[in-house]
Amino acid sequence: MKITRMNTTTLSSRRYNAGIPPVTIDQPGRDCPKCPRLVAFREENRENWPDWHNGPVESFGGDDAALLIVGLAPGLRGANRTSRPFTGDYAGQLLYPTLQKFGFADGDYDESPDDGLNLVGCRITNAVRCVPPQNKPVGAEINACRPFLIDEIAGMPQLRIILALGTVSHGSILRTLGLRAAAYPFSHCAFHTLPDGIVLADSYHCSRYNTNTGRLTEAMFHDVFREIASRVRA
Ligand code: URA
Repeated sequence: MKITRMNTTTLSSRRYNAGIPPVTIDQPGRDCPKCPRLVAFREENRENWPDWHNGPVESFGGDDAALLIVGLAPGLRGANRTSRPFTGDYAGQLLYPTLQKFGFADGDYDESPDDGLNLVGCRITNAVRCVPPQNKPVGAEINACRPFLIDEIAGMPQLRIILALGTVSHGSILRTLGLRAAAYPFSHCAFHTLPDGIVLADSYHCSRYNTNTGRLTEAMFHDVFREIASRVRA
């Protein structure tokens, strides 16, 4: 069955309003076999770095959050090593302090899943859960991982804003919701109100490449979170 945003929201908010806990959000198993290229890379990484996580990275944060942040895919030496999205790589050094600044995280961020950092009203996931070679998932991998994104969105009854970090996650979110990409063009700091009232926010990805080239500055990233914070708390 094609799952659209309309029926996923309706289902989960009905359960929520009736006091029934939302559907548990399905996470890929440690040896998820869906993408042959990513499985081969995982095996290679398990041999080279046996102490690393080297598996699909689960989402971080409560499913009662109003904000869902969707990254691209785990970084090799970041989430793929530490097991927590954006933890231990350059992108996390911009993302987590920004979340703290705007009240979406408390505690210390110390690049480790046991640093005690908590997300507040916010959850983080990735469009693709396994690390891809050269940080570049291919279309088939994005499609194969989409059922997990569908589950994320369906399992968050209080969701109000989805933040896409980059164009790949923007496109995958729209396909997840059964919406046409052409109707919602990606643009940094755009806020698209979707048919059921959920807002899709866009930001350039907070990658080292984007910040080194000046495509994304800290101030530009803060602008996005300032607007998100004001909408979530309105
Ligand atoms: N780490 C993640 O978990 N996701 C990204 O998109 C980048 C780094």
